[in-house]
Amino acid sequence: MSDGSPDTNTWRASAPGRVNLIGEHVDYNHGWVLPMAIGQRVSLDARPAEGCWAIFESDGAPEPVRLDLSHPEPQATPDWGRYVQGVVWEFIRVTGATLPGFHATLHSDIPQGAGLSSSAALEVAVATLLETITGHTLKALDKALLCQHVEHTYAGVPCGLMDQAASTLCEADHVLLLDCVTHEYRQVPFEDPNVVVLIANSGVSHQLADGAYARRRQECEEVLAILDKPHYRDVSMADLGKAHERLGPVRYRRARHVLSENGRTLSMVNALEQADWMTVGELLYAGHASIRDDFEVSCTELDYLVETAHDLGSEQGVIGSRMTGGGFGGSTVTLVHKNAVARVQSALENAYRDRFGFSPSCFVARPSHGAC
Ligand code: GLA
Repeated sequence: MSDGSPDTNTWRASAPGRVNLIGEHVDYNHGWVLPMAIGQRVSLDARPAEGCWAIFESDGAPEPVRLDLSHPEPQATPDWGRYVQGVVWEFIRVTGATLPGFHATLHSDIPQGAGLSSSAALEVAVATLLETITGHTLKALDKALLCQHVEHTYAGVPCGLMDQAASTLCEADHVLLLDCVTHEYRQVPFEDPNVVVLIANSGVSHQLADGAYARRRQECEEVLAILDKPHYRDVSMADLGKAHERLGPVRYRRARHVLSENGRTLSMVNALEQADWMTVGELLYAGHASIRDDFEVSCTELDYLVETAHDLGSEQGVIGSRMTGGGFGGSTVTLVHKNAVARVQSALENAYRDRFGFSPSCFVARPSHGAC
């Protein structure tokens, strides 16, 4: 949906960031994920321009990205231009579309390095803008896959599909259950107006391209090679137990997280559908313990935020809490009863400031809609 068209000579597109409720580090391990889009978005406004240049200006970057459309191949750009040009060249390759010259301005209110998928939102927003400009519409899932491919080949992050799928497919008042094997998905209602998601950005900037993410992915692949199984759907906890020695302690724990997290994600869907908030909370805390101890991608600051929420407990209106996204910094999600959210937020901020000397930035989210 756009409120511009080639006829009116302006085009507009936007795509949201996301948080993941549960199903962490399992999208590249044949699992199920349960993200929701947040209200913060990357927005693009574009108009036609003379010549064969695509120019992207961002209010957050000193230098524009200038792409010579007569040479659809990698060109020197500022750093964030990797994502932009990746999408432009892949879109041309996949659709065969001819792009006219245009000038786009970009605005984003998704904090960067906060684990909220600002780069996936940028990719999906650019792809959606190109659909609007050219009239070539991709199937939603194909658009997500194109953007994931860009993340792999242009940004060097071997990510799963969750972030791009969430930014493309999510709907308001729903969380997205995505099967990362079949790519089937379903919208799970998250409609109770009395429950909100409090996001706390630890201010510890995560960096997925530095190798730790790729290492986790490799360890998980090594487990399958040792067990001689094609994917995690064929592996049981009993298989892991029997192979414990062959796997060694680290690989064993990585795989245990994958299996236990898959169970939690499917249980979370049931619990949400029953509005069983007590179980939702237990699953969030258990998910955090597993990603912290077995997958080891949390950090002191995220653990402290989750512990503080846990200590406030249900009497103070907290349902549950865990870190969200790739980890090594970034944000936590805490489900909170709406009438308690101001109190919980200031308790988290105060405790965190006392411990680390600066405030986390907190904001309240409800499930928002995908790219448009
Ligand atoms: C990052 C990746 C996703 C996913 C999460 C962890 O956000 O981009 O594909 O693996 O980490 O769940």
